[in-house]
Amino acid sequence: MHVTIAPASTRTAAAVIRSLLAEAPDSVDIHALYRNLARVPKEFADKPNFHALQGDVADPTTLDFTGSDAVLAITPPTFEGGDIVKQAEILSKNVKDAIEAAGSVKRLVLLSSIGAQLREGVGEIKTNNAAERVLATTNVPSITFVRCAYFMENWTMGMDTLKAPEPFFFSTITPLDWKVPMVAVADIGSTLAAELLKEEPAPSKPHVYELHGPRRYTPLDGQAAFSKAVGKQVAVKPVEKSELHSFYSQVFPPEIVGEWVEMSTSFLEGGVMAADKVDYRHVNNVIYNRFAESARVNWITSYAATAEPAQRQQWDELMTPRSIGLILRSIKTDYKLPITYPDQVTVIHKLSVKPDYGADSVILEAVILSEQHKRIAARCFEDIAVYDYQAAKRAPLKDFMVDELRKVYDLQEKNKAEMDKLAAAIEEAVGA
Ligand SMILES: NC(=O)c1ccc[n+]([C@@H]2O[C@H](COP(=O)([O-])OP(=O)(O)OC[C@H]3O[C@@H](n4cnc5c(N)ncnc54)[C@H](OP(=O)(O)O)[C@@H]3O)[C@@H](O)[C@H]2O)c1
Repeated sequence: MHVTIAPASTRTAAAVIRSLLAEAPDSVDIHALYRNLARVPKEFADKPNFHALQGDVADPTTLDFTGSDAVLAITPPTFEGGDIVKQAEILSKNVKDAIEAAGSVKRLVLLSSIGAQLREGVGEIKTNNAAERVLATTNVPSITFVRCAYFMENWTMGMDTLKAPEPFFFSTITPLDWKVPMVAVADIGSTLAAELLKEEPAPSKPHVYELHGPRRYTPLDGQAAFSKAVGKQVAVKPVEKSELHSFYSQVFPPEIVGEWVEMSTSFLEGGVMAADKVDYRHVNNVIYNRFAESARVNWITSYAATAEPAQRQQWDELMTPRSIGLILRSIKTDYKLPITYPDQVTVIHKLSVKPDYGADSVILEAVILSEQHKRIAARCFEDIAVYDYQAAKRAPLKDFMVDELRKVYDLQEKNKAEMDKLAAAIEEAVGA
């Protein structure tokens, strides 16, 4: 098996390579792309199945994925300034093109971020949204997006202050008892390595899930961990929301400071990513609607993945306020079962009504399944209006969209009839 890591210079890529070298059989060849080969870690360099290649995801002429079975894509953070979303789109397009040109790739895995379903309000995470949008349309059998929580290693950015006679670290998470989902880079490494080695295709395309640590953590947890490691009390200095701009201005070029401030505040109280759960175990009922929203966005954008090139952008834009878009008019959620963390949910949408030509709404129903309980946790009933953002009024769905939705509705009905027959046969067999 031949696995390509593009790019390999990030800390997360290093963790994946470490896991592959430790866990995978020697027959797995690892091709790791570095734009600067002097940065290849010594711990990998002498391993016979590790191959460091010169390659820069910003330069398509250096990307050759010939023979790859699986590719790990990572969107490297850019600190040079400029339009970070545009840059992420370009880098992702380069990787997508290289995968398609190779023709051998069966599995694409993208390291993404929680919040990547959002196009606005999440600052730097918008680069992960851009990567997902571009890579979702890659012509490969299996695509998986792993949306990672806040890296625990972010705390180690201020190592110098921890070495001071009176050690301390800065926290951009405030207040200091604010809980944020976090995950260790080593766990990201082992999860992504396992994804790359899987033989069967992912259950959906793209298959999207979030990767969190065992519970949510606060800056005070970081303080306790550092104090234990250093062997004396470490102080934590909060960087209040109002101070974030000047804090990041010390390290980033002015054009991207705003993105980092927005990303940081998106996790805090009032932010779009904040307070997902009432406590660290019970998932707040409001979040069920967010699960349904993420699934709805994936469902619609999956039409773009298989559409004719001329129609692809129009499908993609349905989830944006650019031209003809969809707006949730109402959602009714029936709660059946409390979900507790950790669990994994699967959300399945169906069309409740067969759309007619000229329809200016779409009626959907979703079931949210708890993997842990093997039961339905909630049902959502969604009424979605079609809106023309340019003309600022309701609009009909495009005919080619109605064609596709009607085909899907017919397939649903056909499958339902087959499943009803199967269920009746099972009931008869068990004498129910
Ligand atoms: N930090 C978090 O909490 C968090 C949470 C969820 C998801 N994420 C996502 O995780 C991803 C990776 O983050 P990370 O922390 O692992 O990255 P990182 O270690 O900070 O990556 C920095 C490295 O990227 C490399 N790089 C930059 N531009 C490149 C290019 N054009 N081609 C090749 N390499 C390039 C640079 O390596 P060289 O200079 O050596 O070439 C640099 O050392 C990002 O997409 C981020 O959004 C982060």
